[in-house]
Amino acid sequence: MTDWLDIGDADSIPPLGSRVVRTNRGDIAIFRTSDDQYFALDDRCPHRGGPLSQGIVHGRRVTCPLHNFVIELESGRAVAPDEGCAHRHELRVEGGRLRLAVAVRSRVEP
Ligand code: FES
Repeated sequence: MTDWLDIGDADSIPPLGSRVVRTNRGDIAIFRTSDDQYFALDDRCPHRGGPLSQGIVHGRRVTCPLHNFVIELESGRAVAPDEGCAHRHELRVEGGRLRLAVAVRSRVEP
């Protein structure tokens, strides 16, 4: 079962920026593109677990700060020739607020 958690004001993330939401199932990185699209991925690069939230957002991709894997924000997949996938989370914007889909048993930590 899924619940939609309010994780804050969409404008709190600048264009081409990101933030981290801490849950009891791990950190989730929230990204905003230059055209105000929002995406949520586990904050773990599929290569060696680097913090994707600290990467550079460009277009609909983020480049990992550790070894430069490029990750598609919509799917979490690494761009070839690299391989791997960061888990993607459903996210929507309602009335200027970000809502993250989480399993009912997950919990956002303060
Ligand atoms: S940990 Fe992300 S590219 Fe290596």
